[in-house]
Amino acid sequence: MQLTAHPLQQALAGNIRIPGDKSVSHRAVILATLASGVTSITGWLDAEDTRATLAACIALGAQADWSETDGQRILRITGTAGQLRTPAMPLDLGNAGTGVRLLLGAVAGQFITVEFTGDESLSQRPMGRIINPLQQMGASFQYAVDALDSDASIHLPLQSLGPKRATGLRAIDYQLPVASAQIQAAILLAGLYADGETRIRQPGVCRDHSERMLKLFGARLRRESPELLAIQPGSLQACAVQVPGDFSSAAFLLQAALLTANADITLTEVGINPTRTGLLEVIQRMGGQVTVAPRQAAKFAEPIAQLRCRQAPLHGIDVPAELVSNCIDEFPMIMALAALADGVTRIRGAAELRVKESDRIAVMSTALRQLGITVTEYPDGADILGNAGSGGINGGQVDACGDHRIAMSLAVLGLAARQPVRISNAQAIATSYPGFVDDFTSLGAQLRWQS
Ligand code: S3P
Repeated sequence: MQLTAHPLQQALAGNIRIPGDKSVSHRAVILATLASGVTSITGWLDAEDTRATLAACIALGAQADWSETDGQRILRITGTAGQLRTPAMPLDLGNAGTGVRLLLGAVAGQFITVEFTGDESLSQRPMGRIINPLQQMGASFQYAVDALDSDASIHLPLQSLGPKRATGLRAIDYQLPVASAQIQAAILLAGLYADGETRIRQPGVCRDHSERMLKLFGARLRRESPELLAIQPGSLQACAVQVPGDFSSAAFLLQAALLTANADITLTEVGINPTRTGLLEVIQRMGGQVTVAPRQAAKFAEPIAQLRCRQAPLHGIDVPAELVSNCIDEFPMIMALAALADGVTRIRGAAELRVKESDRIAVMSTALRQLGITVTEYPDGADILGNAGSGGINGGQVDACGDHRIAMSLAVLGLAARQPVRISNAQAIATSYPGFVDDFTSLGAQLRWQS
């Protein structure tokens, strides 16, 4: 499907309640499935990716139903008390990288056989990073290897066959090769079924949703230092989970507020977990401003705030390397901001962008060039020469290559362009933000789908 973004006829203004956080929604359903009792989840993101995870959890034995209290939909999951069942069919996780990687950890300690499949994009993404530590714990998998045993050579489809030893998984002390919350979460989930304390060392900041939520479900976790997290084996107890609005979805509205004339946008119920909000610092360094009004958060819960943002003249920056993992999902929009900033923005140390839902460095660089921006690609980043001084960007035809975040960043860029921007292969927006077009329309934008 193609999405056309038309240059704005009026200033974007209004309030948006940001949809539920994708990372937190996947985790809530998976932990609820492993727990004993009924977990109630409010604010759950109902989108293609999270639905794929929910369907997989149901196939593994969870029961799900919806109820409504005070106009709020609540997803209730009856857990399996740690006894997952063999699904009747392969679990198709669609585009959901977080879903499949966390579930691989969740099933690793179970004496069942589970086959995982995904769509074309997910089937190209590296799974060695998950399989390698789980194999060290004694889990067994079956897969085709297309090169030497490395991260990139193991892909879906693959089968989890359970622990090799009758006594189950071994606890390990593992150094993460990259600061990845998905690898960390997979090992933590497997660690619940290991024979001792599992220790995970991380080379940088990872989003800490798993740590917070596992504590909420009663797991025994210990953060020994910023680099070292340890988990004891044990069972999970059902609880009540409140999913905050997704900061990564809010990012597109911040992008629109910063780039379009006289915009004034307020976002409510936005998760501001400090391991996720590096973008706020990037925006500030570029000369923009986001007003953050935090709300009181309960113990272990995700912090929430109201954000307000208005247009600002931006200038290019060197994105600090230590911020990269803290805003890893926001680079498509950071590259879009850079396109309309004054001067050069340099991004380095971000090679992980090449193994996301698409090769985000390549796909964004190509799209920006098609809109008249000068971009130099590097293996781990890009230099983007903004054209704030030359009257903004042209319209044109670009390809999101099936990547939801690229499609949304380019659509917002189209609102600030001189001519419409037509984005092909944009339908993946539904994987994380199905209400994207409706929300922007309510603020005064014109975005149109064509098949
Ligand atoms: C996620 C972790 C990040 C992020 C992804 C969601 C998660 O991936 O890019 O969109 O929910 O744990 P990595 O773990 O590969 O950094």
